[in-house]
Amino acid sequence: MAKHTVVTMPGDGIGNQVLPEALRVLKAVGFEADYLHADIGWECWRTQGNALPERTLDLLAKHKLGLFGAITSKPNREAQAELKPELRGKGQVYYSPIVTMRQRFNLDVCMRPCVGFAGNPLNYIRKSGGAGFEEPPIDTTVFRQNTEGMYTGIEWTNPPENVRAALSSHSKFKTFAEVPGPDLAVSVRIITRSAARRIVTAAFRYAKKRGFPGITICEKPNVLRETSGMMEETAKDVAKDYPGISLWSTNIDAQLMWLNKNPEDYNVIVASNLFGDILSDAFAGLVGGLGFAASGNIGEQVAVFEPTHGSAPKYAALDPPIVNPIAMILSAAMMLDHIGEGAKADSIRKAIAAVVREGKVRTYDMLRLAGGPKAVSQGAASTHQMTDAILEKLR
Ligand code: NAI
Ligand code: MG
Repeated sequence: MAKHTVVTMPGDGIGNQVLPEALRVLKAVGFEADYLHADIGWECWRTQGNALPERTLDLLAKHKLGLFGAITSKPNREAQAELKPELRGKGQVYYSPIVTMRQRFNLDVCMRPCVGFAGNPLNYIRKSGGAGFEEPPIDTTVFRQNTEGMYTGIEWTNPPENVRAALSSHSKFKTFAEVPGPDLAVSVRIITRSAARRIVTAAFRYAKKRGFPGITICEKPNVLRETSGMMEETAKDVAKDYPGISLWSTNIDAQLMWLNKNPEDYNVIVASNLFGDILSDAFAGLVGGLGFAASGNIGEQVAVFEPTHGSAPKYAALDPPIVNPIAMILSAAMMLDHIGEGAKADSIRKAIAAVVREGKVRTYDMLRLAGGPKAVSQGAASTHQMTDAILEKLR
């Protein structure tokens, strides 16, 4: 098999702490690759006025495979104030580089597995029928449409006249006709049939590969008749290609209630952008939270894998680093799945499962400690020690 080239983008803050740990694990499972470092994030913005430099985009376009840590984002006013003085006032606008990357390479399929590891003290539990508690096994993967829906960025406060005129052509806009422009904010929710088809197909394919009996489309078509309606209609259409797999349908509000009651009933959930974002965070909270939440942003050409967490600036300067590297390491395992190295990915997940089950090595989040310089003296494993324990299981 040809040697892969992986573009590594640690980014800001703890991205720089967790990404190198994932590379140690990839090496330990014998994944041979060339790693090319690429800059992304706040430092690039401050010093170059661009959080996603052209070189990084070129490397991704060429090599098609990326591992990303996390970036820091700040509101525009702070962004302007932190720019290097000679770059100020030149009209640069701060855009989130990860959102830009998703749009630029059309990384439209976002896959977010939320899989509980037995023995994780952060796992969801509930009262059982008797006096005790039970811990249902959660194995849910959310497929979130990553480029459309509520996150297209097509929004206005005080919409221009032609937009207002277009809105006025809809009978339901009568209610808002008299609202003064500056008091009116509008976002556009866009769904296209082709992108809907791609995300739903990804969900069905995954269910088939894992042998799951069905998938759930989670929208709100009774209210959002056109956009959620198109998602659901497309799902029904794609379902015809997967006769052995059922299609269930839930509404986003009810789904959030059910995940607190019977999360183990959902293995694959597919949703548009905002709903998928909410669902994946909600499910991640049942299996350990940000220290365990991995994701893949997968396009037809390019794919980038990243933990769901951000740059956690308050922990970025701690020595030794204390954050949990598992989310990043699981993201690297997803990358291996994506390029057909599933056996190596499975061995990584097995090693993580063994460390969690044994319970001897736990980062501060797993011990429910306050993060900070004292965590290690309070018994928490450092970032590096957690990786060491995983590597030990791989030997
Ligand atoms: P965050 O995810 O960076 O951190 C929130 C809290 O979660 C941390 O303070 C920490 O207590 C915990 N945490 C996060 N990662 C952890 C890990 N690996 N192990 C243990 N605990 C962990 O989110 P926050 O504080 O809202 O944002 C910080 C910065 O990150 C902001 O500038 C934000 O814009 C950015 N961000 C970037 C993302 C990305 O790069 N994809 C995603 C989310 C936020
Ligand atoms: Mg989120």
